[in-house]
Amino acid sequence: MERERRALAHVFDRMVPDADQAAMAVEGTGRRTVGKEVFEDTQPRVKLAGTVVVDEAGKHFRLYSKSSMYAFCVDPVGRIEHLYWGKALPPNDDLTYLSFSNGPAKLQRAAVAKNHLRAKASAPVSTGKEALGSDEDNGIALLDSESSVDGGTVKNYSNMHTIEGTEKSLAGDTTTADTHMAMTSALGISNLQDLLDAGSVFRAQIDSSTSIKCPLPWENPRTFLGEWAGAATFGRPSKLLEFGEGSTGDYRSPSFDLRFQDGGRVCPFRYQSHRVVSGKQPMQHINGRLPELHANVENATTLVVTLVDEQSLLECDLVYTVFNDVDAIVRRVVVRNTTAHPILVQKLMSATVDFHTSNSYFLTHLSGSWANERRIVSKELSMGRVCIDSCRGTSSHQHNPFAALSVGQPQENDGEVYGMTLVYSGNFVAESDMCENGRVRLQMGINPNNFEWELKSNDIFESPECVLVFSDSGLTGMSHQFHSLFRHHLLPKQFKNTVCPVLINTWEAMYFDTTYANVMSLAKGAAKSGVEMLVVDDGWFGSRDDATSSLGDWYVCKKKLPEGLAKLAQDINDLGMHFGLWVEPELVSHKSRLYQKRPDWILHKPDVNKDSADGDFVLDLTRTDVQNYLIDCMSSVFESANIEYVKWDMNSHITEIYSDHAAPSAQGKVYHQYCMGLYQILNTLTSRFPRIRFETCCGGGGRFDAGMLQYSPQIWTSDNTDATSRLFIQHGTSLVYPPSCISAHISSVPNHQTLRISSFKFRFLVSLFGSLGLELNIATIEERECAELSMYLQLCKALSPIVHEGEFYRLWNPVDSKQLCAWMSYHQGRGEAVVAAFLLTSDPGHYLPRLRLKGLEPQSNYLVEEIIPSTAAHNVQTGRIEACPAPIYKLGKKSITASGRTLMSAGLPVHLIYDGDTAAFFIRDISRFM
Ligand code: DGJ
Repeated sequence: MERERRALAHVFDRMVPDADQAAMAVEGTGRRTVGKEVFEDTQPRVKLAGTVVVDEAGKHFRLYSKSSMYAFCVDPVGRIEHLYWGKALPPNDDLTYLSFSNGPAKLQRAAVAKNHLRAKASAPVSTGKEALGSDEDNGIALLDSESSVDGGTVKNYSNMHTIEGTEKSLAGDTTTADTHMAMTSALGISNLQDLLDAGSVFRAQIDSSTSIKCPLPWENPRTFLGEWAGAATFGRPSKLLEFGEGSTGDYRSPSFDLRFQDGGRVCPFRYQSHRVVSGKQPMQHINGRLPELHANVENATTLVVTLVDEQSLLECDLVYTVFNDVDAIVRRVVVRNTTAHPILVQKLMSATVDFHTSNSYFLTHLSGSWANERRIVSKELSMGRVCIDSCRGTSSHQHNPFAALSVGQPQENDGEVYGMTLVYSGNFVAESDMCENGRVRLQMGINPNNFEWELKSNDIFESPECVLVFSDSGLTGMSHQFHSLFRHHLLPKQFKNTVCPVLINTWEAMYFDTTYANVMSLAKGAAKSGVEMLVVDDGWFGSRDDATSSLGDWYVCKKKLPEGLAKLAQDINDLGMHFGLWVEPELVSHKSRLYQKRPDWILHKPDVNKDSADGDFVLDLTRTDVQNYLIDCMSSVFESANIEYVKWDMNSHITEIYSDHAAPSAQGKVYHQYCMGLYQILNTLTSRFPRIRFETCCGGGGRFDAGMLQYSPQIWTSDNTDATSRLFIQHGTSLVYPPSCISAHISSVPNHQTLRISSFKFRFLVSLFGSLGLELNIATIEERECAELSMYLQLCKALSPIVHEGEFYRLWNPVDSKQLCAWMSYHQGRGEAVVAAFLLTSDPGHYLPRLRLKGLEPQSNYLVEEIIPSTAAHNVQTGRIEACPAPIYKLGKKSITASGRTLMSAGLPVHLIYDGDTAAFFIRDISRFM
């Protein structure tokens, strides 16, 4: 061990294991492994996944996740300079050279300067010319200055600097660049970059009476890489940063905007210290509760980099947690007002990443509308900003708090993709900003629009967490990282690796007509088919006969349920089913007892739209009395019966944002405080009722985000339950969120939103790749279909664990093809997969591609069995669809056996023929049983 340690001395010397580097074990010799990567050389093997490696001397930081790495350093003036994010790199490769590329086309600039100097060398000398440099100009200006150089000699050199109002100057016979640098550093300026960064004016005055030799910068490597040639071309707009400040010459969208008492917003944060902590440093919850990823000392390490603004002494922490089992980093920012005066936080991004120029960058996001959520949108970036945001009070149907940058057009299985998502359910922004040199800043955080947070002296503001994942296997790899991270480090622990009971929801079966008789009749039919839970949706409380009243009156409507919830739940339990209930606690109807009693509890601008008789209002969740009321009120509902499932809805966006309760200066806090109030309520209720499985919902999928996943293991995906529409919606949603979190219900036909008719099999298969439930009136379906339903529910019980715990693959993309979709889930531990293929629109005469599977073991042998073969065929004589005596297999036969390599390379020839035609396969690794 000691010998190996010595062999790695040069590595360990630079990596000061700041805190808990025990995780970085040395294991034998011969090859080095970083995460999955194996580096063939003579070095011992070092396990780094989930650790932070700090080079104390150079202040370089490397965050190693499962098989990728994220690196940054402290630059000479103390800014946090981003170096790299991608596949894990060998720990002993010195990355300092990457800073060199932090200036665009520096070599060209130097070459221009060189030619210029040479030209000047023979030019006649004139006097009194002055070259000015700022960080927009460059240090070469000194050499370039008109008529200043004669044969490589600068005459009458004077070097004058103004720093913080004090003028310092040097003059005399400087003869070399070295002397110039020595003289400059005698002024307390270590190099030109420092000088420029200090925001000072650089001035070199030259006349013909004195001569100095001025070496060409590239003749002296130190000069070339250092002060004269390189420095000023670095220019701030091009520097890759981890936390970009505005107002000091970086004109990209800044990471923060803080306003001091004097109205100024110049705040150049500089490195102060850092610390490494084992596991995950929990959030502080100082301003209220925010959801967060969890981890333990075995699988994560946290790095906290503290920055300070030397002028105001304001401090902030950049917090990074890196995981060993996923290619993910979680970031957040904490601002501490260590000044004597209040400051205003007007923007604070949770994470900023600057990407070096590539030939082409694409931004991918999930956008849509009500009933059409999370469609995949990809566009090539050009110079300028792209902003994806919500200012609706929820994360919204329109844009999801997710953005991914890919090098070139995003591919499903190949290429580098950098994904970000915010663990937050309120107003967010995801911004990309491509600046003039092709570099891209990608950042995400609370939407600064309508946000302003006064931070008193000694107060702290903590941003929500932002998840960053890297994939070098395209969108699939990115999705796998998100899915794995959420499953293992975010979802409520008690529901981890559990499949939600198959439920039937009353909404589309009876809407507001939730009478005892209707609910029980639905329950009886459902129980016979094997449904495991009944959820009573909207309509069970107050006088709720339509959407115009009763929100807030959370007592049972005796007219509909004379014997109350307890009796209903009991009767449902007696049928062998669990019981669940819908609530919408965040809203209050104008026509409600609660509103009559507490009209002041709503968010509103006094007298604007307050009296709309049919309307409902959003309760002011920023108030602790309202939070406590809702906690108490919901607790008594949840305790009133054997409730094991709660669907928590919210059918409104926030308008006329204003809290009567807040001071005028605190109105900019309301959106964020609302969100934290909601988290506070959800946190209390989910801890108080750990047995209850929550499903959150927002007029369909208007609050489908990682913030909600901390409380609810599945989220209602969309109010559009049409299977074809759902293919698109679920396909997009799967980019970030695991299938188990996607509530997907089989509804009746014609579908209530689209009037489209699709086969039961089609509807079942779409729902199978989510958390399957039913949203239909069983009493109205034919006996034949009841038998079919029972069979589907049995299949669902058998296959859901594969879908929920396996890796999800998008085999055919409906967005690209508009015609085809195919999905697959592979459970590596079981060696089992389930695959479904859908033909949306047939195109006679057009052959379908072979369906190539993914993720299988190339060497293993698999049995591919077609499940649910068709039992109807098109009789070409009559033109009718007729029952068939023998099953019709889309593969041509019931099953085939082939190696993983064949299935992935050659694929399956699937005969899908008509609109809405489908095929499904169960695949098993049979090598395991040989
Ligand atoms: C919107 C939800 O998305 C629906 O499923 C249903 O619960 C209604 N609200 C009830 O008002």
